[in-house]
Amino acid sequence: MRKPLIAANWKMYKTPAEAVAFTEAFLPLTASNRHAEIVLFPSATSLPAVIDAIHSSHIRVGGQDMHWLDEGAYTGATSPIMLKALGCTHVLIGHSERRQYFGETDETVNRKLKSALAHHLVPIVCVGEHLAERESSHTASVLKRQVAAALLGVDPNHAAPLVIAYEPVWAIGTGLTATPEIAEEAHKIIRAQVAASLNSIVAASTRILYGGSVKPENASSLCRLSDIDGALVGGASLDPSSFAQIVHNAMA
Ligand code: 13P
Repeated sequence: MRKPLIAANWKMYKTPAEAVAFTEAFLPLTASNRHAEIVLFPSATSLPAVIDAIHSSHIRVGGQDMHWLDEGAYTGATSPIMLKALGCTHVLIGHSERRQYFGETDETVNRKLKSALAHHLVPIVCVGEHLAERESSHTASVLKRQVAAALLGVDPNHAAPLVIAYEPVWAIGTGLTATPEIAEEAHKIIRAQVAASLNSIVAASTRILYGGSVKPENASSLCRLSDIDGALVGGASLDPSSFAQIVHNAMA
């Protein structure tokens, strides 16, 4: 069975003090949760404070991005061993904002995914189509290309922790959410491509999250679908009670 995963992507929000204040408010609200894996993705500067604050709780913490190399002359970059040394267990790879503003490509996503797997970090690989691609009926081909490229050369025997997030770019931060039907159809396309690129056993165990304007009001209708294994939440994860409500509703 696939354990539901509900993740908070805080993007470039929250100082360490604000991140700790969130965590202190959020922990008691989800203390009884036993069913979902909850992961926070703070900015790199808040990672140590958040990891300290969630100590011995059920919450996990990950980086919003990483380089694929262990070390080197790459100003501004963070390596997988640095994330591991802090206590990170997860990492986001290929978020559309990294692709759009920071030159992330299918090829760098592939390198980062292989590196994350080699370092035993749970990778959440983000894929999704732009509005023009959806309107020109290219959604399926874009998703297949992104997933196939991310998984190129990945050993199916070592792909087990793989998580993919379907984040239609037109739904990110816009208040527009994919309907459950649109999301479920996209998730099926993604799962079929994982089967084609790796194998059907890995595809059946790969968790596929939906992201794009997830809120307390729509978490339940999305997460109850059989191919949707959780959510990657941006704006609505910045407030502890809103994110706790999403966790609660997603599991309802
Ligand atoms: P919003 O929930 O703000 O639309 O952001 C989604 C996202 O990009 C999560 O990674």
